[in-house]
Order: sequence, then C-alpha cells, then structure tokens
Amino acid sequence: MGRAHAIAYRAARAIFDPSTQVTLEVLADATPELASTAAASLGFVRSTGDWRNLAADPQIDMVDITTPTRLHVEMARAAIVAGKHVYCEKPLAPTATEAWALVEEAEAAGVKTMVGFNYLKNPITVLAREIIESGEIGEVFGFHGQHFEDYMLDPNTLVSPWRFDPRSGDGVTADLGSHIISLARFLVGPVEAVSARRHTVLGERVAADGTAMRVEVADEVSSLLRFASGAEGAMAASWVAAGRKMALGCEVRGTKGTLAFDFERINELQLYTVGQPVGRDGFTTVLAGPAHQDYASFVPAPGHQLGFNDLKAIEVRDLIEGLTADGQAPWPDFREGWEVQRVIDAIIESDRSNGWCRIDQVA
Ligand SMILES: NC(=O)c1ccc[n+]([C@@H]2O[C@H](COP(=O)([O-])OP(=O)(O)OC[C@H]3O[C@@H](n4cnc5c(N)ncnc54)[C@H](O)[C@@H]3O)[C@@H](O)[C@H]2O)c1
Repeated sequence: MGRAHAIAYRAARAIFDPSTQVTLEVLADATPELASTAAASLGFVRSTGDWRNLAADPQIDMVDITTPTRLHVEMARAAIVAGKHVYCEKPLAPTATEAWALVEEAEAAGVKTMVGFNYLKNPITVLAREIIESGEIGEVFGFHGQHFEDYMLDPNTLVSPWRFDPRSGDGVTADLGSHIISLARFLVGPVEAVSARRHTVLGERVAADGTAMRVEVADEVSSLLRFASGAEGAMAASWVAAGRKMALGCEVRGTKGTLAFDFERINELQLYTVGQPVGRDGFTTVLAGPAHQDYASFVPAPGHQLGFNDLKAIEVRDLIEGLTADGQAPWPDFREGWEVQRVIDAIIESDRSNGWCRIDQVA
C-alpha cells in the first residue's frame, strides 16, 4: 500500500492538477535500509528507520500510514499530538474502542483525517449510489455483498504474517470484511444489527521460520445485516476462496429494480429495472465511461477501463482537496472508519454470544 499511495500522489497531481503541490518529504520503514531503498525508488526527499522521527518532523503537514494494522493507532496518535493531518489505511484500528479514541483526539486537535476505503471511489460505485438515490430501483430492501479472495489458501506459504496476528484485528473480518461493510454503508446506510459466524478454516499454518503456527483469527466470516433504513441482507468475506482474486461486489434489490457489480470486472455495473417488454427483459451491462464521475479525467473514451491505482489517485485527489479547502474535510474520515469498526466488533461479539448484536451495544 505504501507504493500504491506514493504512485497516487504523483498520479493525482498529473491527472487532476490539485492546486496544492504535494512534496513526498520523508518515508519511514521498519529499518533505515528499507526506508532509504523505498524512498529512492518512490521519490521521497528523505528517509528514516524510525517512524517517530517522521511524526515529529516540523516539515511534515500530513502523515500517511500504510503499515500493518496493529501499528495504526500508535502512529496516528503521534501524528495527531504533533498537530498533523492523518491519512490511514483501512481498517482504521484493531477495535472500535481504539478507533473512537482516535476520532475524539483528531477532532479535539482540529486535524483532518481520511481512511483508505478506495473502492468507494470507483466511478461504478458512485454510479450505484446515484442510481439508488435517484429512486431508479425503487425502495431498497435487500443487500447481499461479499469480498472473496484466495491469497491465504496455501497453509504452507505465509504471504503476510502480520495479518494472522490478532493485534491487527480478526483476520479476514478486518482485512476484507472492512471493505464490504464500508460498501454496504455507502450504498444502503447505517447497519443496525448483525448475526454472524466466523470460521478459522486452517487452524495451523507454517510460520516464516518453518515451525507450526496456531491460527485463531477468521479465514471466513458471514453475517446477516439489518440496516437502520429497514433493509435487510448479508455480507460474507473469505481469504481462502479458491479461484477468487478480487471478488468484492454486491447486489442491491429495490421495489423497481436490482443493481449488481463485482470488482473482478471493476468497470461494469449490472442494472435491471422493471417494466421492460415481455420476453426482452434482462440486466443491462453499463460500462464505465466519461459520463461517470472522475472517469473522463483518466481517459476520454468509454470502456477503456480504470484500475486499482486509479481509484487510489481519486482518493488522494479527495484527500488533498479536503485538506486544502476551507470548511471541507476529506471523506471517508476517521469517524467513518470507526463506524465500520463498530460493525466488525459487533460481528465478533455476535459470533461469540451466538446471537444478534446491535451496533450500539459495542463502542
Ligand atoms: N485499501 C486497500 O485496498 C488495501 C489493500 C491492502 C492493504 N491495505 C491496508 O494497508 C496496510 C498495509 O498493508 P500491506 O498489505 O501494504 O502490508 P505490507 O506488509 O505489504 O507492508 C507493510 C509495510 O509496513 C512496514 N513496516 C512494518 N513495521 C514497521 C514499522 N515499525 N515502522 C515503519 N514501517 C513498518 C513494512 O516494512 C512494509 O513496508 C494494512 O492496514 C492493510 O489493511 C489496504
């Protein structure tokens, strides 16, 4: 993600021409060697092997956190205390309690914040919300969403050890569940209650040193969702879903139609509206194009496809505009990061207590 963010600052400047030029001043990594290599390749002025130097540096206006999730809270807090704006990758924190503490501290310090829920920036996601808000599919009563990938399927290859550390959150619930929950909230609104099951499919994996490692975080999670609007539905996430690479998507059902999308086809939206001729009705595939928000800034012709790094460029454009404009703030901010985290905590509590959990029962 650090690389994706660094690319996005340059792309945002080239594509959207934000009025304020961003200087990539200091890059921190776990060691001075890692930091100086990455700084040279990504075009930062300076580097450090101790992130605390970066957080305290008077030359820095904003701290961008792309480290393992267990480090987010300490790093964000240090930046806030030093009076700096903070852009943090998702999920904001391992628990809602910690996320809420950051919200309060950032708001009290008057610094602006953003969380990297980049999939909300896809022109197709924005189109889906516009369709829902316009009433085109009628009153929304159903949401089913999922985020399936297979990068943790092999128990002998530990692709990302920190993701199995409970201090970084509950495995796939935090890693991919946070994306589908943010999408559910973006399209259908606040979640009121959940009834969930978590599942550790591979309880033993081979650690980096070749020894056996017990795994307690979730490999799969499923939850019924009850929305404040009265809509109902479900979410599921898995990082052991063989063959699925980026199957983040959803189906939203309303009284006059249905819309659906899957980010393995990131530029397509399926739309069905009632009232089509008998024998000719069916879903229409809408391809992303210049008529949709932000697409034309990248390419003037429809169907030419935006990708993941383009969504990050849009996110960084929103960040810079939010930081520099008076009375405006970037979104999704830490408050939204906390709202997503509350749903995650409620899912964990529901699984533990074997019943429905209201979101307002958790922090
Ligand atoms: N928005 C998205 O689509 C998306 C996608 C992937 C990851 N993420 C999030 O981004 C974050 C990072 O994930 P990743 O996949 O890039 O992880 P990663 O393991 O690939 O990279 C983590 C980086 O943090 C560095 N690091 C570790 N300890 C450090 C320390 N003490 N000080 C400074 N640097 C340190 C590592 O050296 C590495 O460069 C996570 O919170 C993850 O949830 C978001």
